[in-house]
Amino acid sequence: MEKATPHVLIFPLPLLGHISPVLQLAEVLSLRGIRVTVLTTDHVKRRLGSDDENRPMGRKRFSLLSIPDGLPADHPRSAGQFLEVLRSLMVNSRHAYRDVLVSSCKISKTPPVTCAIVDGLMPFAAEVAEEEEIPFIVFRTSGPCSFWAYFSVPKLIEAGELPFPEECDMDELVRSVPGMETFLRRRDLPTICRVRDANDAHLQALSSSTQRTTRARGLIFNSIEQLDAALLTHINSCCPRTYTIGPIGELLRSLDCSVGSPPEWWREDRSYAAWLDAQPSKSVVYVSFGSLTVLRRSQILEFWHGLVSSGYRFIWAVRPDLLDGAGDVAAELKAWTEEKGCVVEWVNQTAVLAHPSVGAFLTHSGWNSTLEGICAGVPMICWPFFFDQMVNSRFVSEVWRIGLDMKDTCDRGTVAKMVKQAMEGESAEEMRRNVGRLSEMARQSVDEGGSSRVHLEQLVHDIRALSLEASALKVGKSV
Ligand code: UDX
Repeated sequence: MEKATPHVLIFPLPLLGHISPVLQLAEVLSLRGIRVTVLTTDHVKRRLGSDDENRPMGRKRFSLLSIPDGLPADHPRSAGQFLEVLRSLMVNSRHAYRDVLVSSCKISKTPPVTCAIVDGLMPFAAEVAEEEEIPFIVFRTSGPCSFWAYFSVPKLIEAGELPFPEECDMDELVRSVPGMETFLRRRDLPTICRVRDANDAHLQALSSSTQRTTRARGLIFNSIEQLDAALLTHINSCCPRTYTIGPIGELLRSLDCSVGSPPEWWREDRSYAAWLDAQPSKSVVYVSFGSLTVLRRSQILEFWHGLVSSGYRFIWAVRPDLLDGAGDVAAELKAWTEEKGCVVEWVNQTAVLAHPSVGAFLTHSGWNSTLEGICAGVPMICWPFFFDQMVNSRFVSEVWRIGLDMKDTCDRGTVAKMVKQAMEGESAEEMRRNVGRLSEMARQSVDEGGSSRVHLEQLVHDIRALSLEASALKVGKSV
């Protein structure tokens, strides 16, 4: 039988924290000779500035197709409305996804899809792949630690640890997440666990989509084997074929140093570069709350006043949709900040974190930001906003000891105190040593012979094998 051309279709949630690692994965697999098509929404494709389906964003290696998300063209799709986008996608895009999955060869003159890589938080994509008998692999763009917390929700409910009792002590440890019994508190579970009813629809949906991972042919993490070794032992007991190929951005750069900068979700304001270059080494705090966090004006003011009274200069990426509600808070912050710091709309985060003037990262603990902070060797001050960020920040402070966790508080005194602890004294030195070790470990993992490189080769091998299996199945059905 002629060798099947492996063709992978990857369909991430239309959110930057999912799209960014998927675009890097698409480049990496393309470099390994796998044909890749990335499917996104019409809105995201326009936002990524791709000029045509075969050359998205100046990339030359994979195809980018898009389908409607079911919302009106003029819907703002702002950070605070991302759940509306996901709900519309789940309701309106199943049919369009199936069309691309089974007939992309007609749509964009490519070989038939032989393997689907589905977003771990988009259950219908796995269901459609199963119905069409196309093997699927799950890509969980957040980390193993939050995956395992979500996977353990049935155990937490069975043990009576969910839902939380009324007026409970949120610092009490939970005992039903294997491997996390000694440090995971109620407040460190994903925010969806703070519901009052174990049958809450969102809690059940996240739990069941995570449980469905056991039906996939494999599970991809954008993480490093040595970072989560003990945890991955537990995960492997339920999902035996797990590929930890992160940090995917670093893995891509190790394979092709010419690769371009990450997607420009907002217009990058380069005015910060000269200001940052003029600052002394490790004297600046970089502040960013990712692409989905929305803050009340009162919270923004608490962070601003805390940063100013810490006495350290800061560079703060303030997206146009960071403020929950109307108003241009960035303009006000810019006017007040002047010589104290630099307020810009959007930066190249990996470049800023790698800058010698940056000494600490005040972050919301999104998984991509957490990995980028580790790669840059920068201690983190964590203010998690929702979902997996609660677990990520606990690992940063209690397991890896590379930062401080400000979870569930937002006052200027705590902000100032934690900035000082991360920037000066023995606590800062210890965190810097620890994150420096993890940064070196990340670098080694993507080098020739490193664990992420080995897992990548295994993933490529398995995609080829699955593609042969899928093609043989099709031939068998056609005779
Ligand atoms: C979302 C969820 O919120 C997060 O919890 C989950 O782990 C991934 O999906 P997001 O909130 O956007 O992600 O945070 P994060 O995962 O950190 O991704 C943000 C990305 O935006 C990072 O890759 C970061 O480098 C980039 N970024 C952010 C910029 O490039 N410039 C900026 O100014 C700010």
